[in-house]
Amino acid sequence: MRLHLCTWPQVEAYLARSNAVVLPIGSTEQHGPTGLIGTDALCAEAIARGVGERLEAMVAPTLPVGMAQHHMAFPGSMTLKPSTLLALLEDCLLSLARHGFARVLVVNGHGGNAATLSAAFAETQMVLDGWSPRPDFRTRLVNWWELAGIDRLSAELYGDAVGSHATPPEVAVTWSLFPETADARVLKPRIAARAPFHSAADFRARFPDGRIGSDPSLAKPEHGARLLAAAVDEIAEIGRAFFSAP
Ligand code: NI
Repeated sequence: MRLHLCTWPQVEAYLARSNAVVLPIGSTEQHGPTGLIGTDALCAEAIARGVGERLEAMVAPTLPVGMAQHHMAFPGSMTLKPSTLLALLEDCLLSLARHGFARVLVVNGHGGNAATLSAAFAETQMVLDGWSPRPDFRTRLVNWWELAGIDRLSAELYGDAVGSHATPPEVAVTWSLFPETADARVLKPRIAARAPFHSAADFRARFPDGRIGSDPSLAKPEHGARLLAAAVDEIAEIGRAFFSAP
């Protein structure tokens, strides 16, 4: 059940039986020379939709742009300042809370969003407490690439070539969704460098093609389908417990 494809009476009827909502958030940023700019949003959306179907839970529209400052030296990347993202998340969470949603499961596709998401959860709770206490309101963050099952499957499929950006698991998920975009050409070096980075220019200087520690040429659409199914399975269990907890 997708919020943007419902009418308001349908949402009202849903809220009479459930206060659960799944909120996908991604990013719009370079993912190396062969990965899609929308990778993080596409992964989060596909996983959230699967979880929503499994649990018959409402799925909010995907927030497509996140905090991607360090990718801004690559064309096509878009970013929100952390303060803008915080304000956007707070307003979205308060809107959902206003209608009676009280269990918000955030499926996140991008590491750069995680700190601001945690801040937004605290900010929203404070605003709710200040206006009219909502001790029932709960938020929960799931970074899909950190799930135990995804970690296991990624290691099995890609060994030490997973890396941390433009990774074969996330690239495989997008290629399973849009097989016509698959580009498995081998890149040089085969496994990209890893290092700490600072500004956007520093990122591009250290990682000239945009990858960090990864070899996305190993990705295959059929891996993506397996990873997607594993993520949906694991997050659906997290969601089931979270939605039904007192
Ligand atoms: Ni990504």
